[in-house]
Amino acid sequence: MILITGATGNVGRHTVTSLAEAGIPVRALVRDPARADFPAGVEVVTGDLTDPPSLAPALDGVEEVFLIWPGFAASTAAQVVDLIARHARRIVYLSANLRPGSTMFHVEVERLIRGAGPAWTFLRPGGFATNTLGWAREILDTGTVRWVYGQAARSLIHEADIAAVAAHVLTSAGHNHQVYVLSGPEALTQVEQVRILGEVLGRPARWEEIAPDAVVERLTAAWGDAELAKSSLETWESFIHTPEEVTDTVERLIGRRARTYRQWAIDRFGGFGGFGGFGGFGGLGGLGG
Ligand SMILES: NC(=O)c1ccc[n+]([C@@H]2O[C@H](COP(=O)([O-])OP(=O)(O)OC[C@H]3O[C@@H](n4cnc5c(N)ncnc54)[C@H](OP(=O)(O)O)[C@@H]3O)[C@@H](O)[C@H]2O)c1
Repeated sequence: MILITGATGNVGRHTVTSLAEAGIPVRALVRDPARADFPAGVEVVTGDLTDPPSLAPALDGVEEVFLIWPGFAASTAAQVVDLIARHARRIVYLSANLRPGSTMFHVEVERLIRGAGPAWTFLRPGGFATNTLGWAREILDTGTVRWVYGQAARSLIHEADIAAVAAHVLTSAGHNHQVYVLSGPEALTQVEQVRILGEVLGRPARWEEIAPDAVVERLTAAWGDAELAKSSLETWESFIHTPEEVTDTVERLIGRRARTYRQWAIDRFGGFGGFGGFGGFGGLGGLGG
């Protein structure tokens, strides 16, 4: 039995679905069963990562855990990792490809997992394509995306590719104590991303550069963490001179190239069927990198 946390999110939902479709016993951890519209056969168990004792039913009989830690502080992570270690023989952790010296919670969660006992595999993706979901709304409403660092280049990854890697790692051997840095197939500047998104949406889109201070203010209000907002801006600015890393890890692991950003946009919005897809916190550039 494989337990997936963050099962209703971008990566977790795809992972649950692909494991279930392959006939693998899979259990989804959810806070609200009403949001658990998974395929038949998926076991849905309620629990909350901020309340470790609530996880006992989810962990009962589990062999592997795909741990997705949501974007909040990791104050309960030590307890959660300890509980998982008492049940599972392997933890696959959705981490992030952070810059050296980062103090983000992923650093701490990786440290806890390394010391916990079970075998582990760390998936470290760069920026998610879903971070740009909000831009689609801006383009349809105004034809313009207003954000910082248009020349910053990121190798945004399709959430379904992270999930495909996770499903592969969870169901095959040879991944113990491996760190996999994941990315899309190419680095595109944000100006290029906006152009592609406009093309897929059928609406020409232009980029308007805004002042970094205004963005720090907005992010601080949204995240409640001024330091994280500032360090995120510094990371994104660095992608102007040093584009985000492109790796071939997706292809090496699952035997096909990672999907392009254009493919992601088509999957989300192609044929204008995608209005259901505006659920993200787009435009915030991603907590991961
Ligand atoms: N965005 C990026 O560019 C990027 C890059 C690298 C790494 N990452 C990392 O990827 C992870 C996020 O993955 P994602 O985008 O797939 O997730 P997501 O779409 O943001 O969804 C978060 C998931 O966590 C669940 N959740 C929230 N609070 C919870 C709690 N207290 N207890 C249990 N579950 C809870 C949510 O469930 P509900 O349905 O209950 O809300 C949801 O399933 C983060 O660790 C982030 O740092 C992101």
